[in-house]
Amino acid sequence: MKRYPTHGPERAAAVRRLFSGLARRYDLVNDVQSAGLHRLWKRRLLRGMELRPEQRLLDLACGTGDLAWRAASRTRVVGGDFSTPMLVRARARRTSGAAPSWTLLDGLALPFHSGSFDAAVVAYGLRNFADPPAALRELFRVLRSGGRLGILDFGKPPQRFVRAAYDRWLRMAPPLLGFWFFRDAEAYAYIAESLAAYPEADGVSAWLRAAGFGGVRFERLCLGAMTLHRASKP
Ligand SMILES: C[S@@+](CC[C@H](N)C(=O)[O-])C[C@H]1O[C@@H](n2cnc3c(N)ncnc32)[C@H](O)[C@@H]1O
Repeated sequence: MKRYPTHGPERAAAVRRLFSGLARRYDLVNDVQSAGLHRLWKRRLLRGMELRPEQRLLDLACGTGDLAWRAASRTRVVGGDFSTPMLVRARARRTSGAAPSWTLLDGLALPFHSGSFDAAVVAYGLRNFADPPAALRELFRVLRSGGRLGILDFGKPPQRFVRAAYDRWLRMAPPLLGFWFFRDAEAYAYIAESLAAYPEADGVSAWLRAAGFGGVRFERLCLGAMTLHRASKP
């Protein structure tokens, strides 16, 4: 099986290639893979962000813009990603609310002034960055004081038998879907691989605190299959 570099520019290039190749059917596979549950988890993420219409939200690693468009009915949204095919799909999508503005960017060097956002969200993005702590430092920088951050990603179930079943499922189901939809099993084998190199929920909390965030907390969703972190800039 292909191994993705765990950090550095080679990882960024490999991850960008991977997602650019998946963009076309990314939403469909997301729905099939999570049985539509990702919609509930994203809704929960947004509900806790206390967004107001005059505020400004950054959706980092926005992909095809699913979350950004959901948030657009509540507030002003900037969606940023480093994959052009993902952003093309995000722009083409239409739902309610004023259209987000889309920016091609690198999450490790955000092209925004310090303190320019009231809130930021990252869904299934942090795990993919070549240097997640550096991305958190950038998010801290662009949030204003009092700004909120929400991070949704795959989790690691704390109960041993659930964890074992989940690990097995992640090693089998996504590659099968990858093969079915893209004739490429390795594309979705990447999920299990990237998760193996990603810390437990407490480790992500430690990253958040090290980046300067306060009020760090997390909740496990679906027996810990997903984790939702929240934090704020003091
Ligand atoms: C799994 S997708 C998540 C998309 C979307 N947030 C969602 O929930 O469906 C991960 C996204 O992270 C983006 N990404 C990875 N590394 C990035 C970086 N350094 N800067 C910006 N985007 C990045 C990829 O291009 C991809 O669109």
